Amino acid sequence: PTPDAWSRVDRYLTGALVGDDAALREAVADQRAAGLPAIEVAPLTGKFLHLMVRMTGARRVLEIGTLGGYSSIWMARALPEGGTVVTVEAEPRNAAVARTNLARAGVGERVSIREGRGSEVLPELVGEEPFDLVFIDADKESNTVYLDWAARLGRAGTVVIVDNVVRAGEVANPASESLQVHGVRRGLEMLARDPRFDATALQTLDAKGWDGLALAVVV
Ligand code: DHB
Ligand code: MG
Repeated sequence: PTPDAWSRVDRYLTGALVGDDAALREAVADQRAAGLPAIEVAPLTGKFLHLMVRMTGARRVLEIGTLGGYSSIWMARALPEGGTVVTVEAEPRNAAVARTNLARAGVGERVSIREGRGSEVLPELVGEEPFDLVFIDADKESNTVYLDWAARLGRAGTVVIVDNVVRAGEVANPASESLQVHGVRRGLEMLARDPRFDATALQTLDAKGWDGLALAVVV
């Protein structure tokens, strides 16, 4: 398909199944105004994450990479009473934008933003109740580190979702010299070989172009 054809389908599906929501629209607008990169998940992917939380009945969700809180809002809205999203963000400017967006969406109480690099913040979560679902969407170079923490902070049955595993096809380009692509590939190889996971991946064609999600369960 041409980008034109899949964009039309993306707009159709988004209109048909996602619709419009003021808090999400304002979250994206604020992110743009603050100069954050336009790399939040597409609306259909936001709803996918929301449904994954609902379908798994997750009460404790861990997100690595908050950006402006767009996906955090989607997942927080799917939580049962008493549920929580812990979201890790290394960039204080992003965390500040996210805090405003989460409050405006009415989920500020349900989302805890932990500022700092994953390698510093994630060890602090040891000893808390295990997470039921983990969404990894931060610096791709660290995907293996984040997957290791997902397994350690999860339990048998924890669902792990990794964003951006296709990167416009670069993941399958052996000549790629991108550190991000190499990070993505190391993560996928870990999902395949590490006995703590069973995994697959889905390509996506949406408002964010050609990319994909890895889906895994902690064994
Ligand atoms: C990038 C990061 C993302 O999480 C994403 O969804 C798209 C692009 C990036 O760093 O380029
Ligand atoms: Mg992403």
